Amino acid sequence: MLGVHSNEELNRTVRIGSAGMKGRMNRRTVMQSGAAAGLAALWSPAPRAGIGDVPRSEYGFATTADEVVAGLDLSGKTALITGCNSGLGYESMRVMAARGAHVIGTARTQAKAAEACASVAGRTTPLVCELADFDAVVACARQVQALDVPIDILLCNAGIMALPKLEQVNGIEKQFVVNHLGHFLLTRHLLPQIVAAPAARIVVLSSIGYRNAPEAGIQFDNLSGERDYRPFTAYGQSKLANALFSRELSRRYADAGIASNAVHPGMVATNLGRYITGKPRDPDAPLRKGFKTPEQGAATQVYVAADPRLAGFSGYYFEDCNPVEPDGPHMADDALALRLWQVSEELTAAHLF
Ligand SMILES: NC(=O)c1ccc[n+]([C@@H]2O[C@H](COP(=O)([O-])OP(=O)(O)OC[C@H]3O[C@@H](n4cnc5c(N)ncnc54)[C@H](OP(=O)(O)O)[C@@H]3O)[C@@H](O)[C@H]2O)c1
Repeated sequence: MLGVHSNEELNRTVRIGSAGMKGRMNRRTVMQSGAAAGLAALWSPAPRAGIGDVPRSEYGFATTADEVVAGLDLSGKTALITGCNSGLGYESMRVMAARGAHVIGTARTQAKAAEACASVAGRTTPLVCELADFDAVVACARQVQALDVPIDILLCNAGIMALPKLEQVNGIEKQFVVNHLGHFLLTRHLLPQIVAAPAARIVVLSSIGYRNAPEAGIQFDNLSGERDYRPFTAYGQSKLANALFSRELSRRYADAGIASNAVHPGMVATNLGRYITGKPRDPDAPLRKGFKTPEQGAATQVYVAADPRLAGFSGYYFEDCNPVEPDGPHMADDALALRLWQVSEELTAAHLF
């Protein structure tokens, strides 16, 4: 049931840096306002602590997701994972459910979600969520709301990469829609349930591909992709958007007790290349040099979602289960993150409330 947590839990604040944020709503106010999803830019950017303040793990490139949760008890926690039927989402679901979490696994069709959920041990709930269809995203959120449970972990995992030719959804380039806007919309609808969890964590799948984003970071004047479409540039833009979304979430919802972080899983042998090759990955193909298995690739997102050492740390970017300072000017650009949030609100406005 929602709203059953203690006053202490309700008023807890997540740290995003050494300096606190001023003049913001506390957790109870957010819940009572009924407007958790509608807190506009009321707050000024807060300085973040450097990554030196974030606990480092002993894990690295080859650590598996099973290893990072070995010994953890996730029973009593609910995790929602998008893209649960393949690659990193599937492995994350398998591992978290095995440690006792109730995993709500979403996929593009109910059949895919049901098949994936049925194939793992533990408690799972399959739901359909087509991120390119905002009506479907809202319908998914309504089903999650009907479950009436706090969401302890939201893993914005599903994604597509490098569509060879420009594809659009309602006039917007498709990778930006699926990877960013669909997750933006889903998260916004789920925020009341996320706020209701005592120490909620949001983990957003970014990628080191953020380095391929356009020089401007986000091309707000070319979100259609029509002026200049390059597959990996558009992917990079969407993955930069994922990281900036996480950063802005951490800024807005620290006092609401939500921690949000972005991760790069490594280069992982999954089906992500299917839009380039036109087919799913051959599971018997040898692992290319520098690539991780899905078991290794899922480690960072599961670590950031579940490791007790990271409680309260928010607004960071992780690779190989450790915080990393990203390159370039955009990943830590709070003004860009705020603008992205505002533009995302405009682009999803008809489906936000
Ligand atoms: N693999 C890597 O090397 C790598 C590196 C950096 C970042 N990442 C990120 O990791 C995340 C997971 O990717 P992966 O490697 O596990 O790839 P994957 O095996 O292709 O899995 C992607 C998942 O996203 C789902 N998906 C695709 N389009 C969707 C849509 N329109 N609506 C809802 N779900 C959709 C897929 O569903 P279907 O099976 O039905 O298509 C699948 O469940 C992505 O965000 C990706 O950008 C991966």
